[in-house]
Amino acid sequence: MTKPLLDVLAGKAPSVPPVWLMRQAGRYLPEYRALRTKASGFLDFCYTPDLAVEATLQPIRRFGFDAAILFSDILVVPDALGQKVWFEDGEGPRLEPVTDMAGLSTLKPFVDLEHLGPVFETIRQVKAELPANVTFLGFCGAPWTVATYMIAGRGVKDQVPARLAAYQEPTFFSALIERIVEASIDYLSAQLENGVDAVQIFDSWAGILPPNEFERWAIEPAKRIVAGVRNRHPQARIIGFPRGAGSFYRDYAQVMDVDAVGLDWAVDPAWAAREVQALKPVQGNLDPLALVAGGDALNRAVDRILAAFSDKPFIFNLGHGIVPQTPIAHVDQMLERIRG
Ligand code: CP3
Repeated sequence: MTKPLLDVLAGKAPSVPPVWLMRQAGRYLPEYRALRTKASGFLDFCYTPDLAVEATLQPIRRFGFDAAILFSDILVVPDALGQKVWFEDGEGPRLEPVTDMAGLSTLKPFVDLEHLGPVFETIRQVKAELPANVTFLGFCGAPWTVATYMIAGRGVKDQVPARLAAYQEPTFFSALIERIVEASIDYLSAQLENGVDAVQIFDSWAGILPPNEFERWAIEPAKRIVAGVRNRHPQARIIGFPRGAGSFYRDYAQVMDVDAVGLDWAVDPAWAAREVQALKPVQGNLDPLALVAGGDALNRAVDRILAAFSDKPFIFNLGHGIVPQTPIAHVDQMLERIRG
């Protein structure tokens, strides 16, 4: 049995596009909320294979998506570099900020893959249970996005601490980015060795970088990750998602050796079909709030995306993560509209 999503990454265009949703395992699912109470904290959840396997599979059982994404978080990389990372319930991630060379020197030189052993165990168990037509996705955060959390210690508006560090402390900032690049190559390679079919690089904060900085901090480090992973795994399938890249999506698609480009919801599908999908398969880009709204607004948004992208290699997805208040019936409605 073939995997339709892998076919798209190989440049084929199935008549019905494969579909999955970013953050498809999450609080909009009652079974996820029930599972979440069994772990003491969010990282504990990620590092307990029994729970993480179940969270990965829940959305596949309920909706029959074409891809399962490993249940984990991009911040396990700083955690495995020895930075203190925790999650405040209902608020999000917290890290002990690393803001200079002295801070960086307290971290491990290489990512501790043994610390991430439970993640690889989760991958092996999911792989054994996944239906044959479902693609298994691993992931990591892009260096720029991971660095924003490592420097600020939490999500902050406009990523001011990281943007300032990039200008004012270039030696420190480059060294931090390099550390994350090397860690991500090791981490993604290990994910592939343990059984994921493809990986996605999430650059959630790419869109706040000005032009030269985008080239320097979003494109160049991600390029080194892709090259490093392909060096060890020439056949690796890789999706790049530089959220908010706007007109730079075209540059990204031109210079990045990825197999598909993820589009956020602010990108005009007609423009992206001409400028991005002409170069690479694309993935996206329904507004998560259209999925909350449902009804005609949802149908129109889905139709516009299908009309623009369906004749060439395309993966249906949201333009960013599904939000907790999304009604499950609207996910069913969306799938019905796509699959008929
Ligand atoms: O279902 C999936 O998509 C797989 C798992 C996944 C999670 N995080 C689980 C998660 C993935 C791929 C991520 C990636 C991630 N994590 C990103 C990149 C993508 C994006 O959304 O921009 C980022 C920036 C993070 C860091 C992070 N993790 C933040 C900012 C937060 C808090 C926001 C929130 O929604 O609570 C998290 C927590 C998190 N990661 C949750 C989940 C399911 C919610 C935790 C909970 O259950 O309370």
